[in-house]
Parts: sequence; C-alpha cells; structure tokens
Amino acid sequence: MNEQVNSGELASAEVVGQSGLPLSELVSDRRVHSSVYTDQAIFDLEMDRIFTKTWVYIGHESEVPKKGDFRLRKIGRQPVIMVRDKDGKINVMMNRCLHRGAIVAEVEAGNTKFFRCWYHGWTYDTTGKLVQVTADEGYEPGFCEKKGGLARPPLVDDYRGFVFACLDENAAPLDKHLGQAADLLNYLIDASPTGKIRLDAGVNKTSYRGNWKLVGMDGYHVNYVHASVVQGWSENSDSGIAAMHKNDPFSDEALTRTRDLGNGHVLLDFREHRMAAIDKYLEFLRGAPGGEKYVEDMIAAYGEEQAKKNMSLAGDPHLGVFPNLQVIGNQVRIMNPISAGETEVLMFPVMFEGVPDELNTLRLRQHESFYGPSSAGSPDDAEIFERAQQGMRATVNPWVDISRGLHREEVDADGTIVGKISDETTQRGQIRAWRKLMTGG
Ligand code: FES
Repeated sequence: MNEQVNSGELASAEVVGQSGLPLSELVSDRRVHSSVYTDQAIFDLEMDRIFTKTWVYIGHESEVPKKGDFRLRKIGRQPVIMVRDKDGKINVMMNRCLHRGAIVAEVEAGNTKFFRCWYHGWTYDTTGKLVQVTADEGYEPGFCEKKGGLARPPLVDDYRGFVFACLDENAAPLDKHLGQAADLLNYLIDASPTGKIRLDAGVNKTSYRGNWKLVGMDGYHVNYVHASVVQGWSENSDSGIAAMHKNDPFSDEALTRTRDLGNGHVLLDFREHRMAAIDKYLEFLRGAPGGEKYVEDMIAAYGEEQAKKNMSLAGDPHLGVFPNLQVIGNQVRIMNPISAGETEVLMFPVMFEGVPDELNTLRLRQHESFYGPSSAGSPDDAEIFERAQQGMRATVNPWVDISRGLHREEVDADGTIVGKISDETTQRGQIRAWRKLMTGG
C-alpha cells in the first residue's frame, strides 16, 4: 500500500513505500525494516527530509587552494560547486544555470575564471554572478544585473576548513549540529604539527550496489569480514599500523568503545586503547621515515602531553558525521547516495602540513593498503554491503536486527551513549537520527 506523501507534513502514521507500515514503525532501537534500505520511495523521501534538511559535508578548503579552483559536489542528488573566488573566498553554489537549468560546470575539478553554460552560453564568474548572456539584444538592458547569480544553499559554514552546506535556512547552526563530533575532528586536524591538513593527494572512488546507510562504523564485522587482515596484524604486531592494533582492539574486553554522539554522529572510540599503548606507537613512529622529526615537531607545537594525545589516533578518529561524512583510516570519506540500491564513495587521503614528505608517503601507502582498489580491506566491505542488499530483498521476516549491546550500553559522563566495541550503538545512533528527520519525532 502506498500513500502520497507531502514532505511538509510529517506524521508518524504516514505510510511510504511497499511495506504497508507507518514510517515510525519501520525503525526502533532493536530492528529496522529492510525497506528502509531497499525501497526507492523511502530513498526519495530521504533525499527530501534528510539531505535537504540537515548539514551536508561539501569538501575541505585545501581542495581549492588557489583562486578559481573548484570542485563539483552534491547535496543528496542536487549538484553544487565549491569554488574559491577571485577574492579568495570559498563559495558553495547550486550547479544550475539561471536560464533553463543545465549544469554550468561539468568536470569534477579544475581552475577557471568563469563558468560558461554549454547550452546557450550564459557565463558566470567565480562568485556566481551572471556576467554575460549570448546574443544579448534578445534581452532588455540590465538583464544580467536583474538576474543576479547562481543560487546558493541558504546556510554555508565551515569547521576548521571542513565546509558544510544546508538547504534549510531554519536549521540549527553548524556548531550545534556537529556537537561533540567537532572535538573528534580535532584528532585529525591536530595530528598535524601546524594544525593544517591537505586533501591534495587525489581521490579514490568506488561504488557498490547497496544503500548509503550500510557504510561502516561497525566494530562487530572487523574480525569476520577482515579476518585475514586481522591475522596479519597479529602476526606482525610490531610494524606499521599493526602497532596501533596490538591487543585486539575489536575484542569486547578491550578499552575500545562504540559511541552515539547525537544527531546521527557516531564513533568507534579507540582513544583510551591507543593511549594505553602510546609509547609503543611513538617508538614505531620515531623509527618510520620522517617520524623522528614529526614527533619532535609535535611536542614542540603542543607540549608533550597534548602531543601524545594528538598523535595517539594517527589522525583517525574513526568518526561518522551524519549523513555523508566519515573520517576513518587516513582518509576523509564522502558517501553519495545514488539510489536505494547504489552508493558512490569518495575517499580522500589526508596529508599533514609541515611534516617530512616521507611521513605523508607512508600515510598514503597505509591508505592504499586497506582502502585502495586492490587493497586488503575496502573491497571486502563493498562486497559485504552488496550481499546485505541482496539478502534484504527477501520479504519474509524482513527485519534487520540492530539490538547488539542494547542491554548493556550506558550514558557516559559526557552525555554520549557508549557501548562495547562490537555493540550496535553506532547503528542505533544513526537510525535514531534517521527516524527523527524522517518522521519529525
Ligand atoms: Fe544555460 Fe541556456 S540553460 S544558457
């Protein structure tokens, strides 16, 4: 049974898609109806109620370092341009011509003084201002000035270089939306001795035939999907990334935790676990190419105690910022929902400013080893997401269980909900935000 949906009138009794159930009954802290992942009608509603109502990550300032640099991004399915204009300011504009709606920029990145629409040649500068129309005798004098410029999301803001936009002018400010997630982003930014990072090492892209909400933030799967990698870490526990994974961080006996930070932001929390082994990790770092200088520069910049804290996660807070950003491994990751059954993932390896080149090279090699196209990790994740999507087509008992650890999770002193590393506290955190945005309650 389907009902026509008016996106302006949220009601918990509203029925969307093929399940026949009200939206509010599709999800709980214990289970999620598989139509939430498979039904295109629900996906279409998500684009309206989630991606146009909350802050969406657009890109990092370091991706557009020079005047005229631009990147094409999306807010849900809506095309936007992030561009550094002729005055050095970063703008986010809708990639939609004021004439008949064609995109005005079609290559995913570049440097330009103008965006010229290929359809009829209207031309915009890097502030979005319409500066020229072709065959202008067909328009009244002053036409360009009256038309103004490319439309903009009503809200654009950044957190320490991470640029976000929101299509709802009534949304809460970015800092309120991010909440404690901002503190976790600091673990990436301040792992650089200058407090600056660069996303200029390129991007590796992948897509999988599965829903966007399947991506990551799952401490339960690691010992199974990545069993061979985990075995490699344990057999080679004094080298590289393995030094940080010593003592099985994915055991429920470990100091690692899952956290629901609120607003759908979630964390696989390795902080305590890594700090317990910080001296061992620093020993590894000092022995790595460029590592000795890095450690000394970090101590000089932050003082020993804070520097240790800043280095402990190796720039990997393992953070999910709802709905489309993750900061995991050595990368910043954007999830682009394409349809209910297809998702594009963009992975940007992060380089630290002010460190020896060899250290950034090591970071890049580490990224490639787990997240590259022929790596040991990411392809297995994509495969398992596709298997989940396939299985969820079965409609007899169509429920997905997310109850692991519900009975033992607690509210921590900082107000976050905390569970053991294998608990589905993170899945519940994401789905709580989903329910709030989709049903208004
Ligand atoms: Fe852009 Fe006509 S649609 S110039």
